[in-house]
Amino acid sequence: MQEELERLRRDARDRLAAAGDADAVEALRHELFGRTGELTTLLRGLAEIGPEERPAVGRLANEVRAEVQGAIDDRLAVMRAAVMRDQLVAEAIDMSSPGRPIRTGHLHPVMTVERDFREIFHAFGFEVFEGPEIETDAVNFEALNIPPDHPSRDLWDTLYVAEPGTDPPVPAEDGTILRTHTSPAQIRAMLALDPPIRVITPGRCFRYEAVDASHGFEFFQIEGLVVDQRTSLADLKGMLEEFARAFYGAATPTRFRPGYYPFTEPSVAFDIGCLVCGGPGCAACKQSGWMTLLGAGMVHPSVLAAGGHDPERYQGYAFGMGLDRMTLLRYGVPDLRLLMGADLRFLHQFSGGR
Ligand code: DAH
Repeated sequence: MQEELERLRRDARDRLAAAGDADAVEALRHELFGRTGELTTLLRGLAEIGPEERPAVGRLANEVRAEVQGAIDDRLAVMRAAVMRDQLVAEAIDMSSPGRPIRTGHLHPVMTVERDFREIFHAFGFEVFEGPEIETDAVNFEALNIPPDHPSRDLWDTLYVAEPGTDPPVPAEDGTILRTHTSPAQIRAMLALDPPIRVITPGRCFRYEAVDASHGFEFFQIEGLVVDQRTSLADLKGMLEEFARAFYGAATPTRFRPGYYPFTEPSVAFDIGCLVCGGPGCAACKQSGWMTLLGAGMVHPSVLAAGGHDPERYQGYAFGMGLDRMTLLRYGVPDLRLLMGADLRFLHQFSGGR
């Protein structure tokens, strides 16, 4: 029995040395210590040994068992540590290396300008009111004092929505059109809100235009409307001058000229000193030294009435301008088609570094 134990001790040592991985070591553990394992079977034989021999043999058996168990546990620990180390090396992260930048995208330059406008007008106490892009003739024209067949309709080349099923297409009977300016949003704001009203209405507009360097069939405007009980042309002038200074700089020269719009009376055009030449005259300002920023005026009494407000009680002023043009001027882009095309290489130049 003692010899067998000694033989098993040596044998176990050799077999453990030969085990190449943790699975092989576990298999060996089972071969030795399993229910019918070699050492287990041997120890079971202890019962048959005589009482005088039993203490010495029992001690040796315990020693061999503890030694082999310990050797197996140590071997496994070493193997597992090696696996862990390999894994750590494979998954190592260099915490000091710079992060990869995430492309978050950025606003289109026209939207950047729109947001800047929103911010300035917000400071003046205006809220944003958005009207629909698909409008009706009644709101886009008639409520704005532009009856059918009025010659001023020629100012707005309209895209009509066709009556379903007509070929050739016939304009829809309910007068559905694509809005030609943001001015109809004035009517919608007046119908929705109670005075005092102070809103800007930014948004997309559509006209049946031949596309060139300064015209598109789709463009952006921003409109302003104030309706209150004591509103004057002086308020309008002061507000627009402040706006021009806030957006183009404190030294920007400004001027008002008489203008004509059916929905304002009186109407004005608002100019700023040429942003390209600064005054002496150049091709961009047609040698005048001035650039027209927007149209404006006091809201016509019949427009106030169409918006549901008594023109005897209320007055208001309004203004409207092209956002695309403002954007071209701000970034010095010579052609609207560059701005409205989908060439991201071009647009990324105005990303603000993103
Ligand atoms: N709706 C005009 C246009 O599209 C711009 C405009 C002019 C708007 C005068 C106004 C205004 O509110 O008072 O050309």
